[in-house]
Amino acid sequence: MKFFVDTANVDEIKKANDMGIICGVTTNPSLIAKEGRDFGEVIKEITDIVDGPISGEVKATTVDAEGMIAEGREIAKIHPNMVVKIPMTVEGLKAVKVLNAEGVKTNVTLVFSAAQALLAARAGASYVSPFLGRLDDISMPGIDLIYEITEIFQMHNIETEIIAASIRNPIHVIDCAKAGADIATVPYKVLEQMTKHPLTDQGIEKFQADYRAVFGE
Ligand code: E4P
Repeated sequence: MKFFVDTANVDEIKKANDMGIICGVTTNPSLIAKEGRDFGEVIKEITDIVDGPISGEVKATTVDAEGMIAEGREIAKIHPNMVVKIPMTVEGLKAVKVLNAEGVKTNVTLVFSAAQALLAARAGASYVSPFLGRLDDISMPGIDLIYEITEIFQMHNIETEIIAASIRNPIHVIDCAKAGADIATVPYKVLEQMTKHPLTDQGIEKFQADYRAVFGE
């Protein structure tokens, strides 16, 4: 399983990229709004940092296929690594079909069922983003959805990649790896949490104390 970082904050993206663990970035309208900056400006900066798929979503207020197609074409022009993120609606599927035929990569987002994932794949989506955490939030085990989509895509040789999204903690990440997700898009805070273990900290302290006791600084 590969890692993308799920943020529009360029400092976090730089830090995750410097760690050598991510190969892509996902953003969404809420993450862009949180930064309070112009979409095009932020996305351009991200493409300068990470050499891999960068998902930029069509405007949250654009709900018709024609509008999403027009915006998708503009997003794709920003950089060859751009992936157009499109919500899972009938209009969204129509936009995916057209953009895919033009060679534009798409990421169908807000996927909460295997049926939605299958439709998105058949419309030509390069990626589908099932939202794990938001299902957990309503007491439906999100991980079951990742297992289900993985099984169906494998059974039918579907090449659309599964991006496990709405990841809230390191356990989600490991569960997604076990379920066979192609990618997990992970908030920077969770990537940091994944680096930590109390025995690692204790081990470093002991190595330093033992070294200093004999060799000094
Ligand atoms: C990424 O593609 C999604 O937009 C993101 O993971 C959603 O996460 P959230 O449910 O924590 O907002």
